[in-house]
Amino acid sequence: MSHAEDHEGTRRDFLYYATAGAGAVTAGAAIWPLINQMNPSADVQALSSIRVDVSGIEPGTQLTVKWLGKPVFIRRRTAKDIEAARSVDVATLPDGLARNANIEETAPATDENRTLDEAGEWLVEMGVCTHLGCVPIGDGAGDFGGWFCPCHGSHYDSAGRIRKGPAPENLPVPVAQFLDETTIQLG
Ligand code: FES
Repeated sequence: MSHAEDHEGTRRDFLYYATAGAGAVTAGAAIWPLINQMNPSADVQALSSIRVDVSGIEPGTQLTVKWLGKPVFIRRRTAKDIEAARSVDVATLPDGLARNANIEETAPATDENRTLDEAGEWLVEMGVCTHLGCVPIGDGAGDFGGWFCPCHGSHYDSAGRIRKGPAPENLPVPVAQFLDETTIQLG
């Protein structure tokens, strides 16, 4: 393999992808030339924080981005999604913790403690089933209108909380924040 081909392979490994919606991910084109000169651990460090343009995500759809080698779901929820998630009694949930890296570890799994904005329109979570790591299917899948992991049948609700099946925990919410109205920063 020539030197140039090797560089192409490296770039492909770091491409981001979108499965739904028309949102775009921006990590900064300037990062790529740097990556070619760095070792793997430094690559990860350079990408530990990415910015995602969410302006193209319509209510009821989600954008999946790859961050630190894992899928992250960015979902713009409908009023129905929000209402369903907020009407749940936290005491009935299999996992009563919010699992949100942006707040205290012991915070309860209320819908308000899971979402990025107060109105609850935006939910950002890792797209990795907490059972054995499959990527759950979205778009209102499963018995609770959220995500369904077909590997062993775990059902998550519209707040990404486990409701049924073998997964022990809610889908984790990573460090995330809005930088402006249409840009979310992960990490
Ligand atoms: S990996 Fe998701 S249910 Fe087993």
